[in-house]
Amino acid sequence: EKDARIEAIASSIRVVPNFPKPGIMFQDITTLLLNPKAFRNVVELFVNRYIDKGITVVAGVEARGFIFAAPIALAIGAKFIPLRKPRKLPGEVISEKYDLEYGTDCLEMHVGAVQPEDRALVVDDLIATGGTLCAAMNLLERAGAEVVECACVIELPELKGRERLNGKPLHILVESR
Ligand code: PRP
Repeated sequence: EKDARIEAIASSIRVVPNFPKPGIMFQDITTLLLNPKAFRNVVELFVNRYIDKGITVVAGVEARGFIFAAPIALAIGAKFIPLRKPRKLPGEVISEKYDLEYGTDCLEMHVGAVQPEDRALVVDDLIATGGTLCAAMNLLERAGAEVVECACVIELPELKGRERLNGKPLHILVESR
């Protein structure tokens, strides 16, 4: 049953107050990964949603997005694309900057990883401010792909990250405060 699966997922995520700094309630998915049933539930819920949507690429955001994006890509028969932090990819890249609380960060994608006819799903573990997912979508769209949806295990709704996605649908499993 779907609600029971969501419950098991939610209760296997450890919330660590004041990490990595005061005031942050860190959502720790490593405890979810120690629970194979809960981890499988996450992948299955997403696979069931996306198996018939004509998705040809699943893009995962470094680092925690990779953990969920790769098994989803395999299960639905799509390409997997790692969206990486700067200076990690050896080939020609396109880059997209995004704002952090202090300063900026950047995601990169290999040129040629996507084709204009690709239909993309963007996967990450968590949406907070939405800056990361926004940059990820921009990379795929600049390369000509159609972003069908974004998928995250956890949303922090109070940060209103959804509003930065320009109306693009976001599917989440668990809300946290
Ligand atoms: C975390 C998380 C998301 C991003 C969400 O990644 O995994 O990618 O922050 O934040 P936002 O919605 O405010 O942009 P982090 O930068 O901690 O990197 P990691 O996955 O490598 O630990």
